[in-house]
Amino acid sequence: MYSEKVLDHFMNPRNVGMIQDPDGEGSAGDPECGDYLEITIQVEHSIIVDIKFMVHGCAGAIATSSVLTELAKGKHILVAYTINENDIVTALDHLPKEKIHCSLLGTVALRNAINDYRCKCNK
Ligand code: FES
Repeated sequence: MYSEKVLDHFMNPRNVGMIQDPDGEGSAGDPECGDYLEITIQVEHSIIVDIKFMVHGCAGAIATSSVLTELAKGKHILVAYTINENDIVTALDHLPKEKIHCSLLGTVALRNAINDYRCKCNK
């Protein structure tokens, strides 16, 4: 059912935690399953130099959030903003169809964190 990469990110999630005093923070929740994700980012010269996540959710939410942080780290915020579910599924080799919605938590939370950063740096 799950690819090796999904199992790896589920068993050994990357970038877990919260950045203290982050440049941006965002969250997303799925009201149907109750899963919830928080992302914090550190940005230097518009590049995401650090990113961490905390999730209360299913194996799919953990794996997709973990790989999302790897995809976003080191990227310009405008590039990171465009990361979508297809990018996450590709990075994980495969994700069961019924679990693809789990990756939405990550993309929404990351975009919210980037929006938060952009609001703060425009003040
Ligand atoms: Fe809720 Fe996976 S079942 S995010």
